[in-house]
Amino acid sequence: SQDVSNGLRSPICCILGHVDSGKTKLLDCIRSTKVQEGEAGGITQQIGATFFPVQNIRKRTKELKADAKLNVPGLLVIDTPGHESFANLRSRGSGLCDIAILVVDIMHGLEPLTIESLSLLKMRGTEFIVALNKVDRLYGWKICPNAPILKAMKQQSKDVHIEFGNRLNQVIAQFKEQGLNTELYYKNKEMGETFSIVPTSAITGEGIPDLLLLLVQWAQKTMIEKLTYQNQVQGIILEVKVVEGYGTTIDVVLVNGVLREGDRIVVCGMKGPILTNIRAILTPHPMKELRVKGVFVHHKEIKAAQGIKIAAQGLKHAIAGTEMHVLGPDDDLEYVKEAAMED
Ligand code: GTP
Ligand code: MG
Ligand code: NA
Repeated sequence: SQDVSNGLRSPICCILGHVDSGKTKLLDCIRSTKVQEGEAGGITQQIGATFFPVQNIRKRTKELKADAKLNVPGLLVIDTPGHESFANLRSRGSGLCDIAILVVDIMHGLEPLTIESLSLLKMRGTEFIVALNKVDRLYGWKICPNAPILKAMKQQSKDVHIEFGNRLNQVIAQFKEQGLNTELYYKNKEMGETFSIVPTSAITGEGIPDLLLLLVQWAQKTMIEKLTYQNQVQGIILEVKVVEGYGTTIDVVLVNGVLREGDRIVVCGMKGPILTNIRAILTPHPMKELRVKGVFVHHKEIKAAQGIKIAAQGLKHAIAGTEMHVLGPDDDLEYVKEAAMED
């Protein structure tokens, strides 16, 4: 399902925002999973990755009638922790993405870690879309499960419209204080200059179709060059962890290229470069979270973009956040080792 004729890879989208703004829950809503409920204290402590095949995105956005316009194989979404102590993980996540979702809780507006996330995005010049989440918490909200946001808004009372408008204006003003123009996406006439806001609920699903469609269409429209698939392998280690039956494994975001079982890889280690052979390439099923213990699918080879788990010997001292290098037949080992340690 990763084979594409038009040569585009899946956009990689990072999800950022203040603690408890609903990042994981939004992904749960799209995946129909309950990852968030399984987290200790409801707090995300690791970076995750989920692949959404384009067929699922088509299905989810059908009501918006945009079928023909989706031409990427899917969307790879990277979940990050909002908690203060995970700044390094947020930086890692935002560093490798093509586009981002910045989640803002409509009841709280911009919070300290929203602003921290914002500065990461600004620093890297990453395009992002604001998910103004938890709209179902507006007093008197009438639930319209998984409806496009305009359709849901039409069902709301005058009071809900007034509260929504007030809170939205506050958020727009707070972004302005941060030097950014934002606007509801369906009123935004100057995408690129003005950042789009999509109202969402991660619990009842309103606005989710809009968020998905906007993400994919925006990426396709403005990032063709960046999203053009390249053979040169590019992979970044998200997490290093022990998995029963596999020993120490690395979770990798494969941004470009093809990986095969048996490939020789070099990664940056605490005690020097690690040279090893890929023993197994694993992924969760589509629409499932890489960081959650579950059923893994084995791949003889896999094409970017994907979130994968690699089992190999000697990974114990691998360092998360660094690049994974593949040693080709013509590559000079010493040179690749040096490159690996430069991260
Ligand atoms: P961290 O990963 O710990 O930073 O949090 P998070 O941003 O991933 O938020 P999480 O998904 O853990 O959600 C936090 C809490 O808000 C949970 O209790 C969710 O059930 C609740 N929540 C998230 N989204 C919504 C929403 O749209 N509506 C309502 N009513 N509650 C929500
Ligand atoms: Mg979370
Ligand atoms: Na949380």
